[in-house]
Amino acid sequence: MRTHRISGLPLLLFLSLAACSDPPSVAPARPGVPGSGPHGLDAAAVARGAGIFRQHCASCHGDRAQGALAWNQPGADGKYPPPPLDGSAHAWHHSYSWLKDTIRQGTVNRGGGMPAWSGTLSGADIDAVIIYFQSLWPEEIYQAWLDIDRRARKAAR
Ligand code: HEC
Repeated sequence: MRTHRISGLPLLLFLSLAACSDPPSVAPARPGVPGSGPHGLDAAAVARGAGIFRQHCASCHGDRAQGALAWNQPGADGKYPPPPLDGSAHAWHHSYSWLKDTIRQGTVNRGGGMPAWSGTLSGADIDAVIIYFQSLWPEEIYQAWLDIDRRARKAAR
């Protein structure tokens, strides 16, 4: 029974990846229908996201997304340093669409220190990088985030 129910998922995931649509082209793991990565995330997207993260994000956010040491203290310029994205800071309080928009637009235009990524990374690249840093989150943080994201999606409808 169970095997039967989940058999269409790889195709679905492939189609949603290929569609590169907006909102998220890669759905977060669905409870009970796991991929083979952490939290049931798509392992291939995690691996792809890890490469993108190393290339574009690690210089500021740290090679394991651990953030700057005093990330919650504004610097002399009044700007906050890069926070951890590994589940130990605030990133998990935000919906998928907030995370994606923030990465796309950066924070310079609201007085922060992160450049925009929309000119460098595709929507699918940004999905993969989010999936990568989510794969670093402890399971209970990821589950709490799923609730937050579900509520945000409901409110947006
Ligand atoms: C030049 C340094 C720099 C680079 C490179 C950079 N960031 Fe950031 N990022 C920041 C800073 C600084 C902040 C905090 C922004 C603020 O307070 O305005 C931030 C904030 C964020 C946030 C919001 C986190 C939260 O908890 O609110 C996310 C998500 C994020 N970055 C993801 C990424 C990703 C993904 C990449 C690579 C594609 C990346 N960043 C590359 C500096 C950087």
